[in-house]
Amino acid sequence: MDDLFETLPRHTCSWIKALSIPTKGKGAYYKYEGFWNFRILLEGAILAQRTFKAQPSDVFLCSSPKAGTTWLKALAFAIVTRKQFDAASSPLLTTFPHDCVHYLESGLEQINENHKNSDFPLVATHLPYASLPKSVVDSDCKIVYIYRNIKDVLVSHYCYMIEVAKLQVEDVPFEVVFDEFCQGISWYGPYWDHILGYWKASQERPGRILFLKYEDMKMDTTSNVKRLAEFIGYPFSIEEEKTGMVESIIKLCSFDNLSNLEVNKNGNYRPEKIGAVANRHLFRKGKDGDWKNYFTDEMEKKMNKLVDEKLIGIDLVLK
Ligand code: A3P
Repeated sequence: MDDLFETLPRHTCSWIKALSIPTKGKGAYYKYEGFWNFRILLEGAILAQRTFKAQPSDVFLCSSPKAGTTWLKALAFAIVTRKQFDAASSPLLTTFPHDCVHYLESGLEQINENHKNSDFPLVATHLPYASLPKSVVDSDCKIVYIYRNIKDVLVSHYCYMIEVAKLQVEDVPFEVVFDEFCQGISWYGPYWDHILGYWKASQERPGRILFLKYEDMKMDTTSNVKRLAEFIGYPFSIEEEKTGMVESIIKLCSFDNLSNLEVNKNGNYRPEKIGAVANRHLFRKGKDGDWKNYFTDEMEKKMNKLVDEKLIGIDLVLK
């Protein structure tokens, strides 16, 4: 793989530059198939592209980082396992949502294990549509894509990197990360191209990709959870609706509930593979509009213009 990586465009991201410890090149983003990412995740993606065999019953949960992946994973997991576990016995009470549904590019072994040992059908990925393994695109797998207001994604990403890298805000000014992001340089970015890839695919193959918007899910969680359940092939029965199953899943997966569980407050994620990340970093505020605390008027105008230019003619609201 070294040969390949030597040919790829490379960028050392601002928050890595701010670290005082040497990172031996591990903190650089590489541009592969049009998107920026860390080498270790690209190696995982390439392995998945070469070896992953999708099954028609698989459901892919796709997103850019910070668009609401953790919430979507928890909801989908609670929906598909509700016959085995009720809200009082759900594995989500003691297991980090990212350990309930694994990422294709970093959890391939566990996903293959699930394929062998159960009919558990959920697979998550941050990969752009164009980088999905061919077997996923060729199969009838269902794909759920969650997206979020671009400004909140950027702020969430900024705060996450600062926390994970144990930096101070002064070490990496928001303006620097904002400028990088606007150039399309971000984790799995450009963010707008990520969305566009899935959007175009959804137009070409209607009925195969469900688009969910984080803000809509917050505003009307019930309808969106029902849409999700229906789409992935686990619709709620009338009886379940009457007995409060939908509400119980929503409560189980709510930000307030998940972020206060011991496992999510004090546990660690992926200690061996990528370096430990505290689970709590995946639960920050869980609110809309925090960008207003970070953006200047000028930044807001610039971002709005960028979105108008990039998503011209696309019926998705990102700002
Ligand atoms: P904030 O940083 O704005 O608080 P991802 O899971 O894709 O990495 O996205 C993380 C964002 O989703 C964070 O946003 C996090 O707080 C929020 N989040 C995590 N769990 C959530 C939940 N159950 N409900 C709503 N938002 C949630």
